[in-house]
Amino acid sequence: MNQIPFIVFLILMLPGCQNSQIKPKETTVIIADSSQPAALKRPDPHSYSRHDRVKIKHLDINLEVDFKDKVLAGFVTIDYEKIKPEASQLFLDTRDLKIKRITAVNDSNNPKLIWRYGQSHELLGKQLIIDLPDDGSAIKIQYQTMPKASGLQWLSPSQTNGKQPYLFSQSQAIHARSWIPLQDTPAVRVTYDATITVDRAVKPVLSADNNQQKGVDGVYKFSMPQAIPSYLIAIAVGDITHQKISEHVSIFAAPDVVEAAAYEFSETENMITATEKYYGSYRWGQYDLLILPPSFPFGGMENPKLSHITPTVIAGDRSLDSLIAHELAHSWSGNLVTNALWQDAWLNEGFTTYIESRIVDAVHGKERMVMEATLAYEALLNSMQELPLDQQKLINPTFSIDPDDYFSAVTYDKGRFFLDWLEQQVGREVFDQFLNMYFDQFAFQSITTAAFTQYLDDNLVKKYPEKISMKQVDVWLNEPGMPDFFTPPTTSQFDKIDQLVEAWLSNELQLTTAISRAWTTQEWLHFLRALPSQLTAEQLQLLDQTFSLTQRQNSEIAHDWLLISINNQYEVAYGRLITYLTEIGRVKLIKPLYEALMAQPALNNLAANIYQKARASYHPIATSQIDTIVGHNPDVSE
Ligand code: BES
Ligand code: ZN
Repeated sequence: MNQIPFIVFLILMLPGCQNSQIKPKETTVIIADSSQPAALKRPDPHSYSRHDRVKIKHLDINLEVDFKDKVLAGFVTIDYEKIKPEASQLFLDTRDLKIKRITAVNDSNNPKLIWRYGQSHELLGKQLIIDLPDDGSAIKIQYQTMPKASGLQWLSPSQTNGKQPYLFSQSQAIHARSWIPLQDTPAVRVTYDATITVDRAVKPVLSADNNQQKGVDGVYKFSMPQAIPSYLIAIAVGDITHQKISEHVSIFAAPDVVEAAAYEFSETENMITATEKYYGSYRWGQYDLLILPPSFPFGGMENPKLSHITPTVIAGDRSLDSLIAHELAHSWSGNLVTNALWQDAWLNEGFTTYIESRIVDAVHGKERMVMEATLAYEALLNSMQELPLDQQKLINPTFSIDPDDYFSAVTYDKGRFFLDWLEQQVGREVFDQFLNMYFDQFAFQSITTAAFTQYLDDNLVKKYPEKISMKQVDVWLNEPGMPDFFTPPTTSQFDKIDQLVEAWLSNELQLTTAISRAWTTQEWLHFLRALPSQLTAEQLQLLDQTFSLTQRQNSEIAHDWLLISINNQYEVAYGRLITYLTEIGRVKLIKPLYEALMAQPALNNLAANIYQKARASYHPIATSQIDTIVGHNPDVSE
């Protein structure tokens, strides 16, 4: 990269700030290349679209899935609305698309439209500028994707269940543009229809009403009648079967996974019922779960009507199903009320993490909810220690051209603890009512933090001035660290474990399986995290022999034990480590292990060898991060 970084300062005048008494902050803008001053003039700096002039409304997506060449080919027809009557062009986002032909749908005399590429950027892709047809008719874009499309992963049969290939999309945050030309900003919502053609014994499912009948000649039709932002458009194609498990829920998964998933996620219907009670009706009809192959880079993705879920939470005991609570919660916070900009990501993820905890409380009880809160709080403090001050603020004033930079423990857990605190101030009943009204008032809209603080001021702070002040809200949003008026979560279960670890380390207690007999996954995780970072070979052996840690199949417990094993060079666990890293592609679980391996010079070769073997199965989102940790030499591994 030959871009010269430099810094400018801007005053960010957030509309609504003045009323809600939050002072506008000075914003540091890191300019990574010369196109960025322009970025800040666009309505969404992470999109080239000018939806303030012409806004897309509906998509008709027609794509054929070609596993051999790893491309989607076909066309999309776009309905749009002029916001500015004088507007004569439509601005779309694309990334690595081959555009073949652009025509006006109704203009039979002169259907061909003039188009060109405008601005471009390594991360944002290329702006596509199309001259609008005179008659305002819909625009048809014929195109195909490229095998390297950042929003798609193509898996060979051997990388899935050995019988059929698999394709899945991951559009959040700005990857929809790599498989559909559209306005790729969460500020714009569209409805869509889709016709997907497949030529093998595979089945497509979309973030839409999934017609569960077999498509005639491999042609499947879908419809998404609710307007959603582009990052929620999703597809998966593979050897996918389905099983209805309750009134609103079906499991979609590979045939060999569907039974285990049906057991693991059996609480989903109860989760929906609990959330509806607090926050109003579920507005999306069906809520299905698609269990992805293990290379899915995230825990979950809240694609509407059909959340995408990693198989690594199938623990056998439902102990990791908070992930389902999380993705379901997005049906309110995120999918119904959406962050208008990626800088406001905490409106999606912080709210969702709070609602997740309320669902877990309702379905699994307070004990588990508080244990998860305590684990999250400890992890939040640890990660904040590593973050620069601006990134510790819920409103991160440092501009980044990469929207992924707006997702951190701060976005999720500090956001969640902010809402926890608001709830504690006014009481659960009042706060539930407040959020219920919020989802109603802003339903199917995309909003900024300023709109939320205005709503908060009007509906809570002004009503309970003795309990919450906008000054305190300002501390939560604009100060680093945790406010000193926040009381962190604690649990007596974890205190007991801390005492036990201390007693063991000072030789006052012997490790036996008796002490851990009734431990939940959350207690195991706390136990492993409470151990000192340096352990002797004897201690490691004793832990392993007593608790069979190397054999654990629970992906979270295994992860924490493998981390300890790497940090202490406990070689007995290396075999398991190799299997783990080659079978799983979820970034949260594999990245810390590669980082730990690279932090030990003696283990760098091991890291490189494992990565060379595993890399082909990882998603582009994973490889782009792990390449920078382990290094990647294309000549060796490809
Ligand atoms: N929407 C996110 C996943 C995401 C975030 C994708 C940013 C792309 C960019 C999803 O809801 C999520 O938060 N997943 C978490 C789940 C966890 C916090 C329970 C994950 O994947 O780890
Ligand atoms: Zn989320």
